[in-house]
Amino acid sequence: MVGCLHLNSSKNRDARITMAKIEFTINGSLCKVDESIPRYMSLNAYIRYVCGLTGTKAMCREGGCGACIVTVRAKRYPSGKTEIFSVNSCLVLVFSCHGWDIRTIESTGNRLDGYSDIQKLTACLHGTQCGYCTPGWIMHLNSLKDKNLTMAQLEKSFGCCTCRCTGFRPILEIIKSVAIDAPPKLSQRLKDIEEISTCAKKCQRKCSVKSDCSDWSLLEDSGSVTKIELDFGKYKFYKVYEIVDIFDILNRDGVDSYMLVDGNTGKGIVETFEYERVLIDISDVMALKTFKIDQNLILGANVSLEDCITIFTEISKTESDFEYLDEVVKHFELIAHIPVRKIASLAGNLMYKRAYPQYRSDVFLLFECLGAEMTVQNSKGNTYTLRLEEFLHHDMQGIVIVNFMLPPLNKTTHLFKSYKIMPRSQNAMAIVNAAFLMKLDSKNNVQKASIVYGNISSTFVHALHTEEYLTGKCPFSNETLQGAIKTLDGELVSSDNPAEASPDCRKKLALGLFYKFMLSICPTASTESIYRSGANIFTRPVSEATQDYVTDSSLYPLNQPVPKLEALIQCSGEARYVNDLPPQKSDVFGAFVLSTVHSGEVDKIYENEILEIEGVLAIYTAKDIPGENTFITPGLQLQTDKEETLATIIKYFGQPIAIVVAETEELAAAVAKKVRVDYKNTKKSAPVITIDEAKKDSSRYIAGEGTLEPTSKGTDVTKIIKGVYEIEAQYHYYMEPLTCVVQPVDDMFMVYDSTQWMEMTQTAIARCLNIGQSKIVVKVPRVGGAFGGKITRNGQVAAACALVASKQNRTCRFILPLQTNMSIAGKRLPCQCEYEVGVNDDGKIQYLNATIVEDAGCCNNDNVTSYTSSSFGNCYDISGYTLNTATVLTDLPSNTFFRAPGACEGIACIEHIMEHIAFAVKKDAISVRLANMKANNTDIPEMIETLKQDVDYDKRCADIQQFNKDNRWVKRAIKINVMEFPVIYYGNFTVMISIYRMDGTVTITTGGIEMGQGANTKAAQVCANALGIPLDVIKVISHYSFVAANDVFSGSSITTESICYCILKICETFDKRFAPVKSRKPQATWLDIVKSAAEEGIELTSCYMMSDKDESLSGYSAFAVSIVEIQLDVLTGRFQMLRVDLLEDVGMSVNPAVDIGQVEGAFIQGVGYFTCEKLVYDKATGKLLTNRSLTYHVPLCQDIPIVYNVKLRHNQKNTKGVLGAKTCGEMGICTAHGITLALRECIMASRIDSGYDSTQWITIPVPYDTEAILKALDVKLEEFVFTASD
Ligand SMILES: Cc1cc2nc3c(=O)[nH]c(=O)nc-3n(C[C@H](O)[C@H](O)[C@H](O)COP(=O)(O)OP(=O)(O)OC[C@H]3O[C@@H](n4cnc5c(N)ncnc54)[C@H](O)[C@@H]3O)c2cc1C
Ligand code: FES
Ligand code: FES
Repeated sequence: MVGCLHLNSSKNRDARITMAKIEFTINGSLCKVDESIPRYMSLNAYIRYVCGLTGTKAMCREGGCGACIVTVRAKRYPSGKTEIFSVNSCLVLVFSCHGWDIRTIESTGNRLDGYSDIQKLTACLHGTQCGYCTPGWIMHLNSLKDKNLTMAQLEKSFGCCTCRCTGFRPILEIIKSVAIDAPPKLSQRLKDIEEISTCAKKCQRKCSVKSDCSDWSLLEDSGSVTKIELDFGKYKFYKVYEIVDIFDILNRDGVDSYMLVDGNTGKGIVETFEYERVLIDISDVMALKTFKIDQNLILGANVSLEDCITIFTEISKTESDFEYLDEVVKHFELIAHIPVRKIASLAGNLMYKRAYPQYRSDVFLLFECLGAEMTVQNSKGNTYTLRLEEFLHHDMQGIVIVNFMLPPLNKTTHLFKSYKIMPRSQNAMAIVNAAFLMKLDSKNNVQKASIVYGNISSTFVHALHTEEYLTGKCPFSNETLQGAIKTLDGELVSSDNPAEASPDCRKKLALGLFYKFMLSICPTASTESIYRSGANIFTRPVSEATQDYVTDSSLYPLNQPVPKLEALIQCSGEARYVNDLPPQKSDVFGAFVLSTVHSGEVDKIYENEILEIEGVLAIYTAKDIPGENTFITPGLQLQTDKEETLATIIKYFGQPIAIVVAETEELAAAVAKKVRVDYKNTKKSAPVITIDEAKKDSSRYIAGEGTLEPTSKGTDVTKIIKGVYEIEAQYHYYMEPLTCVVQPVDDMFMVYDSTQWMEMTQTAIARCLNIGQSKIVVKVPRVGGAFGGKITRNGQVAAACALVASKQNRTCRFILPLQTNMSIAGKRLPCQCEYEVGVNDDGKIQYLNATIVEDAGCCNNDNVTSYTSSSFGNCYDISGYTLNTATVLTDLPSNTFFRAPGACEGIACIEHIMEHIAFAVKKDAISVRLANMKANNTDIPEMIETLKQDVDYDKRCADIQQFNKDNRWVKRAIKINVMEFPVIYYGNFTVMISIYRMDGTVTITTGGIEMGQGANTKAAQVCANALGIPLDVIKVISHYSFVAANDVFSGSSITTESICYCILKICETFDKRFAPVKSRKPQATWLDIVKSAAEEGIELTSCYMMSDKDESLSGYSAFAVSIVEIQLDVLTGRFQMLRVDLLEDVGMSVNPAVDIGQVEGAFIQGVGYFTCEKLVYDKATGKLLTNRSLTYHVPLCQDIPIVYNVKLRHNQKNTKGVLGAKTCGEMGICTAHGITLALRECIMASRIDSGYDSTQWITIPVPYDTEAILKALDVKLEEFVFTASD
């Protein structure tokens, strides 16, 4: 381990010395860093590239995703104690780790030392799929597990972790098992599971019951050290312990370019973040980290946000004048997440608010509303006080914030509440935040009002006119309330900020929140009960879930819910992904330079400016490509057009135009952003970025292959219904970014790629370098999430990476930063469905004419229109359907496959149409669906009935009706969504199995890429069953292009079945080969047979390639029904999924636990697609504005249904397919469409209360985010009252 020495326990330091090194430990080994390490190096890069500990992952590099979390033990202020906490290693500077004992996933358990309880539990409870997120959340759990937290507290603590695969349900179960109030069923789970499963005992993996991280090795207290100084020439780094030292340095080094580094979490929020010339680490300046109460609560300026929560909680209980802090705690808990809050300081937060007025600082909002003040100090030692608003305009050059003062506010006279409305439940900036403080006299007249909003505009702070209006009045009458609302409406001028919700939406929210506050403080006697539901913000109870399936133990290991084979190594960081290839000093890193225009050509790149930067090795453009400048090979499945690897003709904003090569990943990424480029022949016009705009230009319109033609037309048309349904794009948000590592080996290239299609990678590189495919070996160790996004789009990264490797003749690593990844990678195709349906009185379709147009992006590759048309019929009789499909070209990246590509959109469109029909003919939506059902589809009607009975549907419908009558501001709905998903086999997949003669063990390698869906585990189960051998003698190894040569991409759910089919065929071959041996030795064991066969020269390796031409493989349908119950807060547009029940037909599953995981995860991905994931482009430039973890919001663990039940249809055996199973990898996403149906019903219930025409169908675009919901609700301000009549 470079830079790490074994811990030296000697304490021979001189007193009060200045050190020249930063010292800390990682997993017990002492690490010393000095000027030989780049000063910008993050802890994450140090752990991975210097220490070679690759279990810790990275994705967003801005504190948003949690992949990089490690655990730290360090002395902390204000407690003055040694604490265990977790941090995002991507945010922390390695130079800020002085004195820390850092633990990475490698320390928690592994195959040599045994696995920890949490690791075992995770494996046994199926808590991993792709496993890329796993080390991060396990480390976070390690930091919490001994803190005596309840289940509710623990569930709330995981806003820091994103899992894009599992849908969080199993993760929450694992988390809750360490809670002090965990029911025995949960806490005893591990024991039970060990007894029944193959996890620990049967597989003989070494499992330790030792608790994690019990052997911390703390460095000696750094109290004797006054300062640490590191001199990087032009740049300096200091670590100080006293305020006076800060000023010494500023006086000496100047104040032109410096940063006081505390948590360094600002790096995560500031898009253009760059380190200043002088960095002064103040994270251990005790004077800035402590607190006291005199009359005020005085908080050191750099007390961390998480420590504030602890302080506030304690003080609110003990000091009556500070009881209001319990409200502040609730709000602080919504800031970022625990690992960020633990190191993020109050002062850092406010300094960013000062620097970026549009930043929605929650600290500023709360402190300003409460009338807090700050003390600052200048270099002369003078201190003075500033009000927060004053501070925003104060010159802070060379000035240090020393503390904040929060006033005492007696709760009997001061009413305080604050709100934060976010696009998801946790870890997001506010769409609007608001804080309200009212001082009332004994007659309930307002003596003083403080009304503060965030994200209205960069200048808006107080609603001054409303504050003034309320002063002196009793606010609890309809008249005063209405007066205040009108005043507020007048003064809230929200600004346009395209990445944000619209000004109108933000204003609606601000007004709704004010009314909510007023309802919450109004005496009960003055409010009519129907309005009281508006007073509260939803709280979330502890989640519940069931998984219901039956298995037949006589078939085991087939049909057995065994843990995924890779689960334990995923939990320990031992599972290697592409960029986990052990680092070498000679490695180089590539990063794309992206175009900052949407059209034209590159005129000039100022290469010399870049090449002068130390550590930058080269910059390459299209002219450096020796072969063809395309990463697409037309002729491969669904590939028609070439797409340039490095653009010469620019087609969209953010397209790769060059590659920067540098010695470190961080440098390559940072420099790539800085490259100066001149363009020529750019278009003056704005880019075309919507389907509607593209449709106007016939040259952009391409008729799709997928169509439906009617075979008959009904004549009983009593109603004609027309509409347009639009669904936007979705980004894959795989946790492992597009990544490739290319190693020149001999005269060829070893390529490690995170791809779903090895042939695509191989051909992309061969064409780029103008070499034969035989000189390229692609190895895919495993893929950290893909969802269709790594079928073709990674080809560009692979070609670029190979170009660098070949030019530099060194191993090149190419790991896309999230912003680059989101900018260049195509998304799910947005679609627009125009429909006209003629129906009879029962809603039965007599004819249907529809056109679905999908946005292909700048190129028509990866066309999914045929998938759309084949799914559009869903489970319905399509005899009267006419469907045309088309794609349009826009000035955006070429869109691509995404879980159930085209099919999800097709099913969503027809389900939407069914709902529209039911609405128009005023019939129950289920009866309309049944009226339109295919004559031969008995499955769906039966499944609807089963699920309805299981979930007490009719009673819940009645309860909801009553609830909606009783409550004006919360509406509920329950809806059914149905799905028939067409499964077809396509292309070809290869499997190779080798049996080893000396011990009878078996390896399998396949062309079916393991990306979390459990393909390897099922392959082993099928093989074990077919050969009649134990599961643990089988090892499924990485995927290799020379074995699975020419295989099609892994996708469309049929991959696992296809490789299982190959395995069956290979096992038949072995059976035939071994038959003579077996007949001679009927009692022989497996090993005897293998040995004898080997001795007789029988080949122990066999390959099989299945193809879609194989007659024994025919397509079939997979079915699912979902019932979704939702409640909607009408005043904020926020909703909760109270309960979701899914029933899916997976046939006779090879592994029902794996399938449950697919069903659950896909549904939650659909929740994101249909409700909170939104891609916003700058209309003028075409730049993607939501290209960060802070701006693109995938669901987190508190966004999943509160009650989440999944049932696999009992006792079903598929008569087609492979081994009686049905695939389920993709289609679960379609079932999530039911959320839109339920939300629509909530919206309609509110609109009826608002007095809108109940027969008026409204168009609501997908996603149903806060903005879409509030717009559709369109609540009238006159409705904001306490009583219906005053
Ligand atoms: C994933 C994520 C989510 C977030 N979500 C939210 C959110 O929901 N709401 C919200 O409000 N914020 C949010 N933040 C922002 C976060 O609260 C701030 O980044 C944090 O408070 C900054 O504190 P820090 O100690 O890390 O500051 P640093 O990044 O270390 O420093 C920030 C700046 O403050 C200056 N500074 C620090 N201390 C002093 C001092 N004593 N005197 C003078 N100058 C000083 C530094 O010179 C520097 O310029 C989020 C951040 C991340 C990464
Ligand atoms: S990589 Fe650190 S939080 Fe995402
Ligand atoms: S298992 Fe969590 S992201 Fe894949």
